[in-house]
Amino acid sequence: MHIDYVHGYSAKENTRLSDQATTLTELLHADTRYPPGSLVLEAGCGVGAQTVILAENSPQAAFTSIDISHESLAQAQRRVQETGSTNVTFQHADIFELPFPSGHFDHVFVCFVLEHLPNPAAALRALMRVLKPGGSITVIEGDHGSAYYHPRSDHARRAIWCLVDLQQRAGGDSLIGRRLYPLLVQAGYRAVKVSPRMVYTDASRPALVDGFTRKTFTAMVEGVGEQAVGRGLIDEGSWAAGIRDLHRTAEEDGTFPPRWAS
Ligand SMILES: C[S@@+](CC[C@H](N)C(=O)[O-])C[C@H]1O[C@@H](n2cnc3c(N)ncnc32)[C@H](O)[C@@H]1O
Repeated sequence: MHIDYVHGYSAKENTRLSDQATTLTELLHADTRYPPGSLVLEAGCGVGAQTVILAENSPQAAFTSIDISHESLAQAQRRVQETGSTNVTFQHADIFELPFPSGHFDHVFVCFVLEHLPNPAAALRALMRVLKPGGSITVIEGDHGSAYYHPRSDHARRAIWCLVDLQQRAGGDSLIGRRLYPLLVQAGYRAVKVSPRMVYTDASRPALVDGFTRKTFTAMVEGVGEQAVGRGLIDEGSWAAGIRDLHRTAEEDGTFPPRWAS
């Protein structure tokens, strides 16, 4: 089963998710370690791009990684097998109908999932049910409205906002990073701490320019081109100019500092 989500499940998108996870490993995972013996639920594991990092960073924790897509789960399973990690169990499940007893997990990990859900608050409440009292949740989400880049381009800005619009039409919110604190508090979580993360790229960091500016962010926007033009949000010429200008920010004199929240 697939949900209707803006990035889709294509091979290209799966590669993008891997590039994103690999490039942002330090930024997103540096402070996520789970103690030996703890039970961790990874909700919405996708093709396992974060799963392999979680499993390697906390080899003595036991992960249960769930997703609503059978195909993504199969890929995630293959990927974890390839790394040799044996501390992950995969299970097909819907966040809104979790097949686990109340208070089952010590920790929950969610990354780039809430932004696609029509009711992220309900998802957070469903996840809270399976958390032990005193357990923790780590939520990592983006905020595409906080993308800054040089050279400045109205075409690029319009292209990014097409993605924001499309995600909203699909029931999601790609600006959710700025809402994490109130969402978590309203869902009943206590001691909520938001730790904004910023990715900054310039030509002195070629790996980041390639892994983030080109293969994560620009690829993500580029991926919705057909939908954006097809639904009449933007004309073909303006779209092409927007994508060209986003690639331009990866050139020698370009910079790209968007933010992420966790
Ligand atoms: C953008 S992907 C992120 C995957 C992974 N967390 C990562 O960071 O690479 C979002 C994933 O959430 C899954 N998903 C969406 N709604 C879900 C639901 N109700 N229950 C479980 N998984 C869901 C999708 O199938 C997709 O694999």
